[in-house]
Amino acid sequence: MPTTKPTKPMVQKYKTYGTYTSYSLPLPTTTPRVPSLLTNHFWVLVTFVTACMVYWSATRVVDTVLPFSVWGFLGEVKEEGLGKKVNVELFVMAKCPDAVFCEGVFANVLLEVSSITHFTTHYLASRNTTSSTGLTCKHGPSECQGTLQQLCIRHLHPDPKIWFNYILCTNRDYRAIPDRERAEVCARAVGVEYEELEGCVESKGRELAWKDVKVAKERGVSRSCTVHVNGKHRCTHDGGEWYDCPGGHAVEDFVKSVCEAYEGEKPRACREV
Ligand SMILES: *[C@@H]1O[C@H](CO)[C@@H](O)[C@H](O)[C@H]1NC(C)=O
Repeated sequence: MPTTKPTKPMVQKYKTYGTYTSYSLPLPTTTPRVPSLLTNHFWVLVTFVTACMVYWSATRVVDTVLPFSVWGFLGEVKEEGLGKKVNVELFVMAKCPDAVFCEGVFANVLLEVSSITHFTTHYLASRNTTSSTGLTCKHGPSECQGTLQQLCIRHLHPDPKIWFNYILCTNRDYRAIPDRERAEVCARAVGVEYEELEGCVESKGRELAWKDVKVAKERGVSRSCTVHVNGKHRCTHDGGEWYDCPGGHAVEDFVKSVCEAYEGEKPRACREV
């Protein structure tokens, strides 16, 4: 008796909802359609946000984490051919404290805009055919020797990441220039054999120096350090002070000048000044 009792209402229940089963046919297709659309959009959104985050972090890494050399390399490849590089020239003396200071400032400028800058140094000295270096220099014969070293490393390795880093390295103890031991350490630090540098100083130094010191004479520059941007006077640092710097003399001011002079597509650093 108890076995038949529960089956009876179940059959009845099924019968009552019997008509519902025919209506319920379209229900399984319409009701899940709403959540499935939602999940599709959800994954599209997740993919988009993830892609944005990966892109953002990748560009941050290139800009901030990678060393100057790698950054510069990437920057040059990216900007190549987009515009004529801006000429930045420093007129210096190898053992002048103002030049050392100025070069330190421009190391920071190059960190920002090396990809759009053609950077070089010119030396203030007089041609002297009787001196062993072929020059007379304000801070004595040792400065002339240092000038030949600096001109030679640039002649051998025109990439600023090599020659300018060598100068920045020897500048740490600029009074010791042209000390051989220091020059050797700094040459090795930028991947250059000292013997190669010494060989150039002896064979080509004088010729390179005479060619270079003409530039300052032609441009009427006599103070170290004088900064020219695209051949025009921009600023001077002499006697421990900045002079004649209408555009300012902070790193960002020089970055801004380079950016303004550049006619191609501006790199990221230009959009931040
Ligand atoms: C040229 O160099 C020699 C040797 O260093 C020096 O004695 C002489 O005074 C220099 N001449 C000039 C005009 O500086």
